[in-house]
Amino acid sequence: MKYTLGIDIGTSGTKTVLFDVQGTKIASSTVEYPLYQPKNGWAEQDPADWWNAVHTSVKTVMAESGVNPADVAGIGLSGQMHGLVMLDEDNNVLRNSIIWCDGRTGEECVQIESIIGRARLIEITANPALTGFTASKIMWVKNHEPEIWEKCRHILLPKDYIRFMLTGEYATEVSDASGMQLLDVPNRCWSDEVLDKLGIPGEYLGKVYESPDVTGYTTDAAADLCGLTAGIPVVGGAGDNAAAAVGLGVVRDGRAFTTIGTSGVVFAHKSDISIDPAGRVHTFCCAVPGAWHIMGVTQAAGLSLRWYRDNFCGDEITEAEKRGCDPYDVMTEEAASVPVGADRLLYLPYLMGERTPHLDPNARGAFIGLSAVHTKPHMIRAVLEGVTYSLRDCVEIIDGMGALPSEMQVCGGGGKSAFWRQMLADAFGMPVIRAENDEGPALGVAILAMVGAGLYPSVEEACDAIIKERDRTVPDEARAAEYKKYYNIYTNVYGGLKETCAKLADC
Ligand code: XUL
Repeated sequence: MKYTLGIDIGTSGTKTVLFDVQGTKIASSTVEYPLYQPKNGWAEQDPADWWNAVHTSVKTVMAESGVNPADVAGIGLSGQMHGLVMLDEDNNVLRNSIIWCDGRTGEECVQIESIIGRARLIEITANPALTGFTASKIMWVKNHEPEIWEKCRHILLPKDYIRFMLTGEYATEVSDASGMQLLDVPNRCWSDEVLDKLGIPGEYLGKVYESPDVTGYTTDAAADLCGLTAGIPVVGGAGDNAAAAVGLGVVRDGRAFTTIGTSGVVFAHKSDISIDPAGRVHTFCCAVPGAWHIMGVTQAAGLSLRWYRDNFCGDEITEAEKRGCDPYDVMTEEAASVPVGADRLLYLPYLMGERTPHLDPNARGAFIGLSAVHTKPHMIRAVLEGVTYSLRDCVEIIDGMGALPSEMQVCGGGGKSAFWRQMLADAFGMPVIRAENDEGPALGVAILAMVGAGLYPSVEEACDAIIKERDRTVPDEARAAEYKKYYNIYTNVYGGLKETCAKLADC
């Protein structure tokens, strides 16, 4: 029997899963690490923490599974997109990684668009300049830390830094590279025009592969540390969302999924390229060779609930310890005790600025409509609903681009909650489907590794053989009408707050 490893280098931790060729989970391990926020709106992580989490979790998985390392046919890497890792000529990490949800680069986005021209930038990279994307982070280092830029010789994304540690290769693949804003997305190669105009030497970047291609092989040193053998092929893999799509079988036109992790995403597969001229949703290359996807992003989805839990839900955490359940279960029980609309309380989930639909790094969260009748259950419900409305904003735009199917797959931490799945089904007005295997990105890149290792002929055929439906949640018409009423009010709130948020950002 052959096995593949899926490694997902997320924002809260790294999850490593060993699968057999039928996609059955054999063993899994997660190692968490901190997120540093040196200033309001900044977000950084230490690449050494990622590598430590990867080799520790791989070693644990191999030991627990009892699988002979010689039977591991391939490794797939997934992870948080956009983060900037800079190495010097001796491959030392030059600074903490500025990660996807960092919003410090507003001025660099203006700079990028003035150098290249907004329309031309969208034509080449399929997206407007965004603070989340890597190019503006590189420009920020050039502008603010020239001594670091001077020493920089290699630029890698988070999972590609792990690839380098595993194989010694500087490489990436099209889906994650799309989020750097340096890729010619229609043509799936680095854009010399963008690189030249921004003064970023092309040789600093890794070689670009399609997601199932083999990019290198485990070295002796990495194999020793991870409890593996040397020479295991490491495939391109994919950014977390493109990987989740494979793990859910969203690999053909007419298929879409939503995920609620730290961020929230609505993702639709497209075999031809389609770009929102206003740039409110992203168009990226996807993990299926030669195809793309459209994706709307809510920056603080699960993060909103975690923030609320960590700051205001000490009682729920204690109660969960007593009952031996997750604090989120206690919180959603409380939320279920109040009606749709949380007795007229709205929450805007913009704790980390927002991408879809506002493209505003200065956006900040808010509770709107607070009254003395409101209690903690109302606040929790409002948080869940606000995140759901923000995802619906993504659905609306994708719908306008003609890519919305009639049903939605769901995954991520939020997708595990029956209460939240019902809310999504009601608020989207369509059935929400869960796949049998909920390993998402880790399964997706393990499947890519199976294709790369020749165990399946294509990504689509591997998904047909592996992905099974677990259950579906259908919308309730009456609740759907209620949610629509509140959603219509929600969509008008931020317009009135935008200026206030901009002023606060200037304080
Ligand atoms: C996608 C994005 C997030 C991160 C973190 O554009 O920024 O999905 O990859 O999960």
